[in-house]
Amino acid sequence: MTGAIRIRPANAARALAAAVLLLCGRPLHAAEAAVGGPTHGALPMDQQVTRIDALLPEVNVDQPPAGVDPTIFALFVPSDNEMSPARVALGKKLYFDTRLSADGTVACATCHDVSRGFTDQRAVSEGIRDQLGRRNAPTTMNTVVFQSLFLDGRAPTLEAQAKLPIVNPIEMGQPNGAAAAQAIANDADYQRMFQDAYSRLPNYDDIGRAIANFERTLIFLNSPFDQFLAGQTDAISPQAQQGWVLFNGKARCVSCHPLNRSNPIGTDNRFHNIGVAARHQDFEKLARQALAELQKQGGLDAVDRMALSTDMSELGRFLITKNRSDIGAFRTLQLRNIGITGPYMHDGSMQTLWDVMDHYNKGGEANPFLDGGIEPLALSEDEIDAVVALLFSMTDQRFADQNQAMFDKQHTLAQTQRPFRDEALAMRHVFPFEQRVTGQQQ
Ligand code: HEC
Ligand code: HEC
Repeated sequence: MTGAIRIRPANAARALAAAVLLLCGRPLHAAEAAVGGPTHGALPMDQQVTRIDALLPEVNVDQPPAGVDPTIFALFVPSDNEMSPARVALGKKLYFDTRLSADGTVACATCHDVSRGFTDQRAVSEGIRDQLGRRNAPTTMNTVVFQSLFLDGRAPTLEAQAKLPIVNPIEMGQPNGAAAAQAIANDADYQRMFQDAYSRLPNYDDIGRAIANFERTLIFLNSPFDQFLAGQTDAISPQAQQGWVLFNGKARCVSCHPLNRSNPIGTDNRFHNIGVAARHQDFEKLARQALAELQKQGGLDAVDRMALSTDMSELGRFLITKNRSDIGAFRTLQLRNIGITGPYMHDGSMQTLWDVMDHYNKGGEANPFLDGGIEPLALSEDEIDAVVALLFSMTDQRFADQNQAMFDKQHTLAQTQRPFRDEALAMRHVFPFEQRVTGQQQ
């Protein structure tokens, strides 16, 4: 720094990040500072438990949750892990237990925090020893109806998913599953609860099963938007209603985010390159590197590590299928409670839903693997506002205050910064290839 500009220490990290951005074109969050501290920025666990008890005062496992078709719900419950009160109780205890991590500071609820929309509300997550990963933590709400878990779909079930963060070196960092079970095995409460739930001593597989059982109770599908769909037209504003028309028409959202009774969360469960990763990656080089590494060491654990702690993270679904057309493709995310789960996208690169709309409006970031369904939308500012209003109406009533606060915050931010807006591209005054040949881009 040259003496002329003085910045407060709190701004130093931001200034540094901005400088890094200028130098190598990487997004700001790549230099996001670690939060550290005993809770890594999460609400303390005892307070989170109080909140979840208030949110879900009674869970009746004999009744399928409201808002999910009973037949569909049943399809997603594996036969060796039927719902039961003992299993839910065990899973709940495990979800909030930092002892499952190698240094005793990180639980599932550190990154999927009840008070933050079951996310950490930061661009990328922070695990043990303050290590930052490469991906944004999606919410654990309503995950029961996803056909695959993680942004690249590498886990087939919630049971399989829950076991991975425990042994990932930058998340909870246990050397192996046995060590995780050992960390809680001498606790008399756990011994009794594992007996009640699975008639066995504490073990790694049942840790995954119990957590999945608990996650199937995290259903938050009671929003103004649902009342609107059920026929109460005035449950959402006229502006949001206009957003719904655009969502299903001009804005083309419905083609990847279908929302209906059998699919209440708004995902097609498929993988698309929507031009988010393309901003800062040489895909071809990364793909060659990934193939070489996967040949040396394959398997789910290896992919998990590549996804969370290397540049190859941006290859997305390709890491699983090794299929060229899956380069930079990620699973369509759910749209429920979207107002309170920002920042957005697999890399947390978008701060507001206006940013998300600007991204779609200009047809994403051009790259050879871009999904055919992504193209400039020519939406006006009013139309963008309408879709954003619709998205905010999809948040469960139980988070109404938080949703309003987030709306206000994002709205203010969007008035001063719209980093993804590109009118010329959105309105088709110029086309991406034109920008490239005239040297305006890349
Ligand atoms: C250090 C932070 C961190 C911890 C700890 C953590 N997660 Fe996550 N979680 C993430 C991130 C980041 C992703 C996205 C990774 C990806 O898609 O590759 C994720 C993804 C998920 C998903 C997939 C959601 C979806 O839309 O597919 C579920 C479910 C989940 N985590 C549950 C858990 C459970 C259960 C635990 C505890 C055993 C846990 N997480 C621990 C950060 C964390
Ligand atoms: C071609 C398929 C496709 C279309 C069309 C599409 N989306 Fe998406 N959407 C995705 C995928 C895939 C992701 C995850 C991408 C990523 O993380 O890199 C996503 C992510 C999002 C997210 C971020 C979710 C989160 O939790 O971070 C929002 C919000 C969203 N889409 C809204 C919309 C809206 C609104 C429209 C219409 C203007 C739309 N999408 C059109 C496929 C699509």
